[in-house]
Amino acid sequence: MFARAMPLDLHDPSRRVYDDVLEGLGNTPLIRLNRVTRGIRTPVYAKAEHLTPGGSVKDRIGVPIIAAAEESGRLKPGGTIVEATAGNTGLALAMAAAIKGYKCVFVMPDKMSLEKQRLLKAFGARIVVTPTAVPPDHPDYYLNTARKIAEETPNAIFADQFYNRANTDAHYATTGPEIWRQTEGRIAAFVAGMGTGGTISGAGRYLKERNADVKVVGADPVGSILKRYKETGEIGEGKTYMVEGIGMDKVPATLDIEYVDEIRNVADKESFRMARRLTREEGLFVGGSSGTITHVALEVARELDDPDRCVVTMLCDVGERYLSKFHSDEWMRENRMLEDERVEVAYLLERKARAEAPPLIAIDDKATVREALRLMEKYNVSQIPVISDSDQLGSLSEGALLNRVLAEPEAIDRPLSGYLEPPFPTVDESASMKLVIGHLTSGDSALLVCRGRQFVGILTKFDVLHYVTNGGGL
Ligand SMILES: Cc1ncc(COP(=O)(O)O)c(C=O)c1O
Repeated sequence: MFARAMPLDLHDPSRRVYDDVLEGLGNTPLIRLNRVTRGIRTPVYAKAEHLTPGGSVKDRIGVPIIAAAEESGRLKPGGTIVEATAGNTGLALAMAAAIKGYKCVFVMPDKMSLEKQRLLKAFGARIVVTPTAVPPDHPDYYLNTARKIAEETPNAIFADQFYNRANTDAHYATTGPEIWRQTEGRIAAFVAGMGTGGTISGAGRYLKERNADVKVVGADPVGSILKRYKETGEIGEGKTYMVEGIGMDKVPATLDIEYVDEIRNVADKESFRMARRLTREEGLFVGGSSGTITHVALEVARELDDPDRCVVTMLCDVGERYLSKFHSDEWMRENRMLEDERVEVAYLLERKARAEAPPLIAIDDKATVREALRLMEKYNVSQIPVISDSDQLGSLSEGALLNRVLAEPEAIDRPLSGYLEPPFPTVDESASMKLVIGHLTSGDSALLVCRGRQFVGILTKFDVLHYVTNGGGL
């Protein structure tokens, strides 16, 4: 009966049933950013790779790497897959290996988070940790260690994502076409990070083949050698940085630099802050490299200033992998990355707007004292601005009004204009929280927030306190 009432549409994606988890890889949503883009006219869309079964962009390359090794006869049933990995490629390989019946050994530098190691172990992989601070020619360098383990293990392959063309090809075959379709060809700039360079080279090549004007921009951590390499052809010396998964101290074979138009550097602090903002303001719980890339994407979108086209940023992996790192306030404080974080007034107002009271409770100067007291009682506020025709004439405070009414009961029905106190200071919605705190600690009881000539909200000491005590950084 149910089936007859609702005829089965096998093309309806919501009815699709997968044979195994690997069928669910790729085809990630493209999600518009709405808050971190405030003031930017070019739409910015995020390719949500953190929402795939393995939680990272690397989900796209696990199966193709294994398939290529099987086809060439290098990987036989029961074999072992060895890889040097920041964690995400390991997870993609481990997931595919679980289904296809292979063993896994992963070598990772010790700067990678403990969560990532545990995650790979959960899939049954063996983990070998190597020191981060050794040069690429050192035998303990993670790539050299992985290569050696693969050579010494019978029936083993070195997945070698930094050399393996199956990596770049996977992005040419999937990431690029998906973005082209999802943006309906309106994409003006594609911004990606570079670990192996697989994403930027594969998707970048595809997008440029469809439209040679698409600008491909690389986001690179300060300390990585890739920006200088692009600009001068010189391979400088890398310095350590904390963002995981992107940036290099040597040039990977899978990076086809000719498809990259420009590379921009981002400091760790900016990357982590942007990743935290993506989480708190857009609801996108992502890793640090997503912050690096989005930081650059916003710069590019601002410069482009074109409402009819769009910029695409990559959200490379899920934030859960960094809960003991930059997603922890303690960690951010220890690493001196929170102290001058710029939290804008508009952000606080938005949070307040989600609470029960309207962001601005004001009264007209023609109202009576009784009406003013009722309004304050209704919303449980102790002060309100008096606004007439978009001008602030003054303010009223509950304490002073009550004293007047107690001393002089007839005052209750008089026009409130006879009881005005000085107007509240005004701040623009783009002002920093530091400025707000400066006002509130030097005697002002509340501030009016404006957008251009319009009043959009009010902030009191209580609002700031509420924000701080609920974990908000300043
Ligand atoms: C978290 C994260 N972001 C970005 C990337 C970069 O992707 P690709 O290797 O395709 O350049 C990686 C790769 O390891 C990664 O793990």
